[in-house]
Amino acid sequence: MRILSGIQPTGSMHIGSYLGAVSQWKKLQETGECFFFVADLHALTVPQDPKSFSAQVMQTAIELIAAGLNPEKCVIFIQSEVKEHTELCWLLNTITPLGELERMTQYKDKSGQFKDSINAGLLNYPILQAADILLYQVDSVPVGEDQKQHLELTKNLARKFNQKYGKTFNVPEPLMLETGAKIMSLQNPKKKMSKSQPETCLFLFDEPDVIKKKIMSAVTDTGKAIKYDPEKKPGIANLLTIYSLIGQKSIKELEKKFSARGGSALDGKDASYAQFKMALVKLLVEKLEPFRLKKKELLAREVYVKEILERGRKRAQIIAAGTMQDVRKKMGLN
Ligand code: TYM
Repeated sequence: MRILSGIQPTGSMHIGSYLGAVSQWKKLQETGECFFFVADLHALTVPQDPKSFSAQVMQTAIELIAAGLNPEKCVIFIQSEVKEHTELCWLLNTITPLGELERMTQYKDKSGQFKDSINAGLLNYPILQAADILLYQVDSVPVGEDQKQHLELTKNLARKFNQKYGKTFNVPEPLMLETGAKIMSLQNPKKKMSKSQPETCLFLFDEPDVIKKKIMSAVTDTGKAIKYDPEKKPGIANLLTIYSLIGQKSIKELEKKFSARGGSALDGKDASYAQFKMALVKLLVEKLEPFRLKKKELLAREVYVKEILERGRKRAQIIAAGTMQDVRKKMGLN
């Protein structure tokens, strides 16, 4: 089974990206033929500082490895270093209906957020994403829920191209987790945790004192019980989801653990929100420590990381070039 997915180098990795996407990638690399990349071209659709951009791209690559991608088991590369992505993007442009792009939720959100600089790249963003995926003839694309619409477009474009020019692309399926595909903001649990609002994110590499501050001040709900109810108690439900995925315990087990039935540490009383949050802080500080340590180690080993990315580029390019040869022929370009 061939797998591919990407992440934008727009700030540090937060726990939403980790739990929704990267944690799946770590499992899949054990069995599949996996390609993971830093989507630097996508990041340029919103303003970036050219002076710090390449360091940001490098940081994202380092964070992927620190978070558990194993360069011996998967291919890691930088999108812009494989030129076939932009070439296929252009060709797919020619079969993409404008209306479908205008309907994309992410486009509507971002064009609202960057009102003064709505560039064509923001609109065409999902076509580049389709090119990223279709170039590699993949079976599955492990992503969080927010990418569902982009994956639908990718499938439509693959089918449309195949119909028009003859079978060329594999039609890929998204892979989304049942729990964790949408981790919510710590400050507004009705909205997803998003890098565009860094103050509402818990980052995978946050230091213990920062983790404590963020979790203790996370917005919770009225009432007292530690119960999973995303409708009525979105704040507690989100924290329970994070606890469950990081601590590898079911939500049911956790509800019991923090109720009067739960354990001697609670003296027969239900845990308060503060007690529950303290337990979550303790868990996160402990479980995220290896990631922090690994990132620090890798920051001092830039040459090693560059070698991994160069190996990744070479491997990715062989496959991308093969697909492009076929695409060009099918479209009558040579
Ligand atoms: P990006 O960089 O926004 O996010 C990377 C991955 O993390 C997931 N994610 C979340 N999952 C659960 N809860 C959240 N709060 C949360 N926030 C982010 C995203 O769904 C994503 O899987 N367009 C993509 C990058 C991309 C790509 C691709 C992905 C470019 N080309 C080809 C797959 C295939 C993006 O902006 O991801």
